Parts: sequence; C-alpha cells; structure tokens
Amino acid sequence: LKIAVFASGNGSNFQAVAEAVQAGRIPARIELVVCDKPSAYVLERARSFGIDTYVFSPKQYASREAYEAEIVAELQSRGIDLIVMAGYMRLVTQVLVEPYYGRMINIHPALLPAFPGINGIGQALEYGVKLTGATVHFVDGGTDTGPIIAQKAVPVASEDTLESLGARIQQAEYELLPQVVSWIAEGRVTLEGRKVTINN
Ligand code: GRF
Repeated sequence: LKIAVFASGNGSNFQAVAEAVQAGRIPARIELVVCDKPSAYVLERARSFGIDTYVFSPKQYASREAYEAEIVAELQSRGIDLIVMAGYMRLVTQVLVEPYYGRMINIHPALLPAFPGINGIGQALEYGVKLTGATVHFVDGGTDTGPIIAQKAVPVASEDTLESLGARIQQAEYELLPQVVSWIAEGRVTLEGRKVTINN
C-alpha cells in the first residue's frame, strides 16, 4: 500500500505513522508528504525519513481546484492508494474527494460530530465538556463530516489549558492514527454508506 501524508505544520502525527511503518507495524510505504507551507517542520521530518515531498503555495494558484488538480496528477503518477491527512489545514474540493473517496482519511482533535473545523481543542474547553478526544474519519466534501472509522476518548481536567489538553489529545492521536492506517493497510476496513466496519 502506497501512502501520501498531507500536512501543514509540525508533523508529529506524520512522525507517528512513519515510525510505525519503520517498525513494521504497518504493511505500507509512505511515498510522499504533500505540504502547503514551504517552511513547515513536517518537511524536515520527511527528509530525515528519506521520504519525497511535494510542496506548493496556494497563493500561486487561481483556485483550490487548480492546485488540487496538480496534486491529483502527482498522486496518480505515483500510484498512491491512501491519503492520510494529518494536520492538513485546508478545505478540500471534489477534485480531490471524487477520485479518493473511501481512500482518504483525516485526524481531528475532538470527538466528532462535536467541535468540527478549526480549533477543536479550544472549542471543547470553551464548551466545558468533560470528555473529548480524537477522531479518524474518511474525508467527504464537508468539514470533518465524513464517515467515522475510530475514536479515542480523552478526559478533560478542570485545570486544563489549551496546551495541557492539546498534549493529552496528541498522545491519543499518536496511538489512534497509526492503528487505523494499519487496519486499512491490512485490508480490514470496509465502508458502506456511512457505516464503517473493522473486520478481523
Ligand atoms: C493534530 O492535532 C490534528 O488533529 C490537527 O492538527 C494537529 C496536527 O499536529 N488537525 P501535527 O502537525 O501532526 O504535529
């Protein structure tokens, strides 16, 4: 299975998946890191794993559709089977969703459908929930609305800050995301309508 990881920033979730691949826990290869920020730290992480990068600047394109068409061409020429969005901070269009629906996943730092979109951690703190977490879902045309594959709950403490709660959620993400990628690589995940099944 050939994977492309999409990321915009630090890339600690990319790192968790790359380490799991390296350790033999995911029967797959990360072919490419796609990044919309030329200065993002994820690019240094990719280089240290010897993984190719595809970097673009959205401002240089007339539309999202225009840069996505170029990304899709790159993914298709490399025979990418699975897109893993790990902190990719851009909305996607049908240009990307249509060819990869069911083969494109995202990790979100909340228990969807609660707190979609930007700042899921801050939204949960502000609302005052006592339990939040992380969600991995298939990507559809909406913002964090696609079929849910797996979730991991994280308790909120009364003294939590954005930083302390964020760190706890990230620890959950580093377990959840490689786990889901391994299930997909093993061919165990099926999608029918909105229903996702993890088979043995
Ligand atoms: C993660 O918490 C992810 O859920 C969110 O952005 C963060 C990315 O962190 N959408 P990193 O770049 O993987 O370190």
